[in-house]
Amino acid sequence: MTATPDRQLDEPIAALGACLRPAIIAIDGPAASGKSTVGYRLAKALGYLYFDTGVMYRAVTWAALTRGVAIADEQAVSALAHSLVIDLHPPQPTQQDGRHATVLVDGQDVTWLLRAPEVDRNVSAVSAYAEVRAALTAKQRAIAHRYGRGDAERAGIVLVGRDIGTVVVPDAPLKLYIDATPEERARRRYHELRQQDKAVTYAQVLADILRRDRIDSERTLAPLRLAADAVRIDNSHQSADVTLKQALEALCARVGKL
Ligand code: DC
Repeated sequence: MTATPDRQLDEPIAALGACLRPAIIAIDGPAASGKSTVGYRLAKALGYLYFDTGVMYRAVTWAALTRGVAIADEQAVSALAHSLVIDLHPPQPTQQDGRHATVLVDGQDVTWLLRAPEVDRNVSAVSAYAEVRAALTAKQRAIAHRYGRGDAERAGIVLVGRDIGTVVVPDAPLKLYIDATPEERARRRYHELRQQDKAVTYAQVLADILRRDRIDSERTLAPLRLAADAVRIDNSHQSADVTLKQALEALCARVGKL
């Protein structure tokens, strides 16, 4: 009988898990690079909390759009970022709809509403506002340190975003940067959207990816950057299993040096 890919990873996962308790793992990368997939699988394998910080920027954007707050009104959008109560929970066994976490905004389950094209179109603008970043970074840092100190119900945390290793938790001992070419990222996002019956063309998806890359990496505040001490993995031409294996190897090698 051949072992499943996950089985083959049991040993390195166990080895890593044994030396890492509690721990913060920071994962950054551009839109649709596969960072969420590797982050989620790592968190699941290690029994850590999975925290996709992008959902916080999406939650503020979604709230502005549904409450009639103009996206261009920086002050009003920033006020929302301070006042909203954004909660994340691991999915319940009954929630088998592909979610990695349940996101509540002021008590309402908005997990899938945050993926609406209108949120996609506006979230980069919202995430460039200084006060929005200040409010959300403070919340993310507090959560990361609570888990990092071992004061939480899980032994560690995997944070995924754009500025985790550079700004949110620059002191994180383990940092990954997951990358892929814009064309490959657009291809993956296009297939995802087509599976959801969304009427888009590949050219539109690629244009959107390039636009978001530009905003995310050219903004003055916390731009997308490779942290000096991050391990970069380009997964343009490999499977998610291979990327997970490389991530585990990189983390094991780093743990050995801590
Ligand atoms: O990863 P995502 O596509 O869900 O992120 C949504 C937006 O939030 C994206 O424009 C980048 C921004 N973001 C950010 O600026 N900093 C983070 N730590 C996470 C996301």
